[in-house]
Parts: sequence; C-alpha cells; structure tokens
Amino acid sequence: MKEMTAANLRSSYGGESMAHMRYKVWADKAEKDGFPNVARLFNAVSHSEHVHAWNHFSRLRGVPGDFQVVAGAVFGAGATADNLAGAMGGEWSEIEEMYPMYITVAEAQGEEGAVRSMSNALAAEKTHHALYARAKTAVEAGADAELGVIHVCDMCGATMEGDAPDNCPVCGALKEFFITFA
Ligand SMILES: [Fe+2]
Ligand SMILES: [Fe+2]
Repeated sequence: MKEMTAANLRSSYGGESMAHMRYKVWADKAEKDGFPNVARLFNAVSHSEHVHAWNHFSRLRGVPGDFQVVAGAVFGAGATADNLAGAMGGEWSEIEEMYPMYITVAEAQGEEGAVRSMSNALAAEKTHHALYARAKTAVEAGADAELGVIHVCDMCGATMEGDAPDNCPVCGALKEFFITFA
C-alpha cells in the first residue's frame, strides 16, 4: 500500500477508535441526564464507528508495524447538549475535510480497498450528523429525542432509522447483518 494512503488509514482508524469510545462515555452521560433515546443513539453510532475502525485496521493488514498516529478527536465531557454539539463537530470535520481529502489521495494512488473503506465511513458520518442534529434540537428544548429503531450494518457501519431495508443501502449486505438498537 502507498505510504500516504496507509498513513491516512491509520489516522482514520485512530479517529474512529476514539469516536467509538467517546460516544460510549456520552451515552452513559445521556442516560444519567434522563435522555434514554439519545443514549441509544450514542450507543448505535458508537457501534458504527467501531465497524469503521475495524475495517480501516483490516485494510492495513499488509502494513504491520508500530506507528505514531495523529488523528482528529473531540474532547469534553459536559452536559448532553454540549456533547451532542461536540459530536456534530467531529462528524462534520470528517464529512467536510478528512474523508474527502483522504479518499481523493487514495483514488489518485489507486488504492481501491482504502477508497471503499473510507467511502463507506463517509456515507455513515452524514447520517450520524443528521441524527445528532435532531437529538440536539430536542435536548435543547428539554426533551428526549424521538427516534425509531436504529440499525447499524455490521459490514460497513451504515446507520438507518426505522424499518430495516432488506439490504444495506451503502454496501448491499443482507439485513441479517444489521445490529439493532431498539
Ligand atoms: Fe460518525
Ligand atoms: Fe453496509
């Protein structure tokens, strides 16, 4: 694998790993703040980020070693509305800057596997941002978010609300591969 794409995949893996953990912490806080649906959303998206991290890590199987990894990460452990704002900011920088830039490099380098893994993540981050925006509006009004059942594709991290489609709209996996957060 070309070194610049490998470095970008390692950074993406770092960012997704931290997002996975950060959302777990914020799910716990949302539960304590009395917003169980927001907690469920954080847990669902946490799983999606875990799938992204897993896929990026797996793509790096041909480049073993010990590396210093620099990755974007949001910090802060405040009230749930603040955490939702932080979550939206992190998703937004992945959507607007990180993944488009990394995908462009991977395409230029002919690294198709990395392009797929990062494009799948980008698709999910857009859904995450929209779901967090809805939740933030509700919480700022003092209410829990109104959220249907959330499904996360265990193959690509696609995040879907409501009735599960037969196939993942992003990677085509059968719905048997969806993890449900109800
Ligand atoms: Fe995300
Ligand atoms: Fe999928």
